[in-house]
Parts: sequence; structure tokens; C-alpha cells
Amino acid sequence: MDHFLYRNGELYAEDVPVAEIAAQVGTPFYCYSTATLSRHFRLFDEALAGTEHLICYAMKAASNLAILKTLAELGAGMDVVSGGEYARAKAAGVPGERIVFSGVGKTRDEMRMALEGGIRQFNVESEPEMAALNEVALSLGMRAPITVRVNPDVDAKTHAKIATGKSENKFGIPIARAREVYAEAAAMPGLEVVGIDVHIGSQLTELEPFRLAYEKVADLTEALRADGHDIRRLDLGGGLGIPYTRSNEAPPLPMDYGQLIKETVGHLGCEIEIEPGRLVVGNAGILVSEVIYLKAGEGRDFLILDAAMNDLIRPAMYDAYHDIVPVREPQPGAEQAAYDIVGPVCESGDTFAKARMMPGLAQGDLVAFRSAGAYGAVMASEYNTRPLVPEVLVHEHQFAVIRARPTFDEIINRDTIPEWL
Ligand code: LLP
Repeated sequence: MDHFLYRNGELYAEDVPVAEIAAQVGTPFYCYSTATLSRHFRLFDEALAGTEHLICYAMKAASNLAILKTLAELGAGMDVVSGGEYARAKAAGVPGERIVFSGVGKTRDEMRMALEGGIRQFNVESEPEMAALNEVALSLGMRAPITVRVNPDVDAKTHAKIATGKSENKFGIPIARAREVYAEAAAMPGLEVVGIDVHIGSQLTELEPFRLAYEKVADLTEALRADGHDIRRLDLGGGLGIPYTRSNEAPPLPMDYGQLIKETVGHLGCEIEIEPGRLVVGNAGILVSEVIYLKAGEGRDFLILDAAMNDLIRPAMYDAYHDIVPVREPQPGAEQAAYDIVGPVCESGDTFAKARMMPGLAQGDLVAFRSAGAYGAVMASEYNTRPLVPEVLVHEHQFAVIRARPTFDEIINRDTIPEWL
């Protein structure tokens, strides 16, 4: 459920007409709903009620400070994967003890930054990384709290580019080697083992892969405890999928996911951490764009939008499907036509949809890409020197620009010409 609905014949974001935002901000822009964001966060919170837990929002999905602050005020922790994300979490007012640091290649500078600024734990992904963290912590006279990310060799049954839990993926250490690696960690004076971490992939539309992974983590918890490690936290990663179409697609609900967590690891008495990104923000955001031209091609009609692959790369990169709806509500039974929906960037890959059935549209009409809140704005670029797409946050009847569109001068002035030119 989200808060982008038609009212009086036009699309609203909560209590604000989307066309009104477009008139003030210009297109394209991302628009998020506070109510949807909060609702989705609370669903996870309720799903884990009765179990000690922390929901560490995977801010790679959408990391605008206003989004982070909205979630932090609801009690969210943050999952960060870079020094930049760590700095954003702190700038949004998230205390270090609610930030976990994930990622396969943390640098020593990033480790130092997080140790000095405060950190809940590092999810360590390899032995060399563990050794580096030990050294950095010792150099600061500190002990770094860690979990080791284990790779459970489970097929997440999702798109190959976002599956992470198979042995051929670059993530974590093989679960079969975990006892050995934990023994090494325990011998390093700059590290303090606090738990286990696992994350098997993104946009999972079945619970079974989670069950397989979490059962392995439960077995490992017992084995590591028997080896004398104080395993008191389990970070179970993110990855719960969302519906991208409004047909009969029905990924598992957070409540069922929470139940599965309780069934598989609840008996261990560990504090549970999860790192959802997409489910929190995916359907809380739309990308709004204007039709620039309708172009009749050979055997097909092109709808040329002012949004492009640099603003929303998911269709080009993962063949991802996004619902695209007119901002003016189509009349019931309105005639539909097939369009290839494209952006203005000079690549054939700049195609959002092929032969998509849409109600008749005209130049100047607005459309909205649904389910664009996660991995939309954060993956945008300035390719073709197109200004980074702005972001807007709606809260009931109010809206605010939470990232302004840069001017051409701002973009160009970031470059410098060397003195020999
Ligand atoms: N934790 C870790 C360690 C992760 O690598 C990820 C996502 C998450 C949590 C959050 O997963 P989520 O709940 O959002 O599924 N750009 C791709 C998705 C990449 C996901 C990367 N890791 C896309 O647009 O589909």
C-alpha cells in the first residue's frame, strides 16, 4: 500500500497534487511520501515485536538526509557501506551505536572514521579486512565490535546482478570456514566478536531462501558458542522484495518474514538486526516526468520523456519493470495504445519500456514511474550533463524540495582547467 492515489481525476502524493509540485519544481523529479515511508518502517518494527531488535535501514536504497531523519525519528538504525554513507547517517543525527558498517571493501580510512565517530559493529567480509580492522583499532587504542558476514551458499532466486548468497558471489566468507575465521578473530586483540551477519540478495520474492540461510546461521550460532564465542547479535541482512506491478504479484509480507525469523533463530536469545532498504522506500517514491514528444516510428510509437536512464537506471541495468502511470487519471475504459517509452539520452539502452500499453498521452502530459523510491535517485548520474534529478518529500498537505536541481553553472564549475591549458 502507498500514498500515491488518484483523487478528483489526478494523481496525489498524500494530500498534494503531483502536478502542483511539477509546476513549482519542474520535471523530472523524485517525490517521496512520508506516510508510506513510516508505514513500511513500522511494518518491520511490528513484525519483530517481542524480540529485541534494531532495524538498520540500508540507506544505499535512498540516502537523502530528510529520508534518513524521518526514519531515524521512528527509531531506525542505519546500515552503511561507505564513509560517505556513514557521514550522511551522522549528519542526519543517527548516533554511532545505531550504525552498522557493511561492505566488501572497507578502507582503513573508513574504518578509522567509524571507530572515531562511534559504530555499533563492522560486518567484516574477509580475513584481510579483519586483519586491517584489527590494526586500525589497535592504532587508536580501541577494540572494534565485529560480526563476520557468512556466505551460506543459498540461491536467493532473484536477478543475477543482485544475488549475493551463492559461493560464486564476492560476498562474505564461506560458511564452512566460519569456525576457523572466528577463531582468528578471537585471537586479534583489536577486535571484539559480537555476532554473525548474513545477507543473501535483494528483491527476494519468496521466503524459502531466507529460511535456508537463517537455519544455517542458527546452527552456526550454536557451534560458535560451543567454541566459546559470545554470539549475542544476529544481523540477518535485507532483501525482502516489493511488488513492482499491480497485478497478482504478491511478495511475502514483513509480518510473515518476522515470523520466519522468530521460527528460525528466535530460540537463540540473540538481539536481531535486519537491514531492509527496498521495502522501506521502494513504493514510497515516484519519479515524475513530462512527455516531450510523441514520435511515430516504423511500426511503433515512441513516447519521449524528459527523464532518462541517468535519472532512473534500473530498466537499463536490470531490465527492471516500473509501472508508468499518467498523472491525469485516465477515463474508465479509455483507449490504450502501445508505446516504446524512452528518454533523451543518446543510447538505445535509454529505454524504460517497450510496447507498453498506455492510455493516450499528449506532449506536455505528466507521467509517474511507480516504485521508484529505492535505487532510483541514489543511482542517478549527470550523464549527458543532465542535472542530477531533484528530490521532494511530501508530508500530508506540505511538500519540500529536499535536494534542489543543480544549475548548469554549478555543474560546470566543479570542473577545473589545468594551468597549462
Ligand atoms: N544489506 C546489504 C549488505 C546489502 O548489500 C543490501 C543491498 C541490503 C542490505 C538491502 O537490500 P534490500 O532490502 O534493499 O533488498 N541496485 C539494485 C539493488 C542492489 C542491492 C544491493 N544490496 C536494484 O536497483 O535492484
